[in-house]
Amino acid sequence: MLFTSYTMKELTLKNRIVMSPMCMYACDDESGRVNNWHKVHYPSRAVGQVGLIIVEATAVTPQGRISAQDLGIWSDEHVEGLKELTSLVHSQGAHIGIQLAHAGRKALVEGPILAPSAIPFDEKHRTPEAMTEQHIAETITAFAEAARRAKEAGFDVIELHAAHGYLINEFLSPLTNKRTDAYGGDKDRRYQLLNDVIDAVKQQWSGPLFVRISAHDYHPEGLTPDDYVDYARRMKAQGVDLIDVSSGAVLPAVPPNIYPGFQAAYAAQLRKEAEVATGAVGIITQPELAESILASGQADLVLLGRELLRDPYWPRTAAKQLGVTLEPPKSYNRGW
Ligand code: FNR
Repeated sequence: MLFTSYTMKELTLKNRIVMSPMCMYACDDESGRVNNWHKVHYPSRAVGQVGLIIVEATAVTPQGRISAQDLGIWSDEHVEGLKELTSLVHSQGAHIGIQLAHAGRKALVEGPILAPSAIPFDEKHRTPEAMTEQHIAETITAFAEAARRAKEAGFDVIELHAAHGYLINEFLSPLTNKRTDAYGGDKDRRYQLLNDVIDAVKQQWSGPLFVRISAHDYHPEGLTPDDYVDYARRMKAQGVDLIDVSSGAVLPAVPPNIYPGFQAAYAAQLRKEAEVATGAVGIITQPELAESILASGQADLVLLGRELLRDPYWPRTAAKQLGVTLEPPKSYNRGW
């Protein structure tokens, strides 16, 4: 199944192999602009026959960057470089998405940082400001503007980063959201920011929309996959096409049990109980594992992170192991 196509809306991916978004911390200055690194790194995976490449967490505001070297999409000036990137990837036969992100309290940049409540992530991070209603309104607009720019730049997919303890995740989790207004308190109100961001993005974007979540907070008072079944139903009702299921990082604690494909069970639960399309991610390096996640109906797509850093030609490696014929780029015919 790994090498079968997958269609969402008007988009058909040539296979189910997705490059997981990974920060490259590679911008030359603090401009957030695409440079030669990005223009070599991402298209290499297209040459390697990855079906969909999701560009790293790209900041919707300067203070929403994880680091000062992150890519940005907070200004119209970012569109030109991003357009070049989408064109390079398209020219090598792959599709390309972008992860729109706001780091919230995990931002490691100068100046004030923002979060639902004024609680630092750990002793190395600064204490964020609790967001005012104006901050929230501005942030929702920033996501919508970023979606407009992503469309102008020619992306095929938008993924909202609502995982790993960044801003949207901080609103969802009761561990980090101690607000008492319309954006905090019970489960409904903690969903409000994501709700509003999805609605605002959809005003600008009619293409496939993914949301990456952390399905488990790994804390007795935190969110669990059961909570996310409900949130996944809401996202689906709002028109989200696929939930990319990661976990953890809301708190510094690491997941108790990490093994190949350890998050796929969460993707499976959401797919079954909320009847949404899912992506599975997390130590998927073996082609047989990727294949079995898809064949057993745990997920619709598999996302690979670090393995695609090590082996940009992983689809070729996988095809060989699975006994599938994978056409090479024409110029590699003699050496594939
Ligand atoms: C990541 N990860 C990540 N996740 C995300 O949603 N947005 C991001 O920008 C990043 N950045 C990032 C950078 C680097 C260098 C690594 C290694 C990881 C997490 C990544 O997408 C993936 O979920 C995890 O790495 C687990 O998958 P693998 O690597 O085990 O296949």
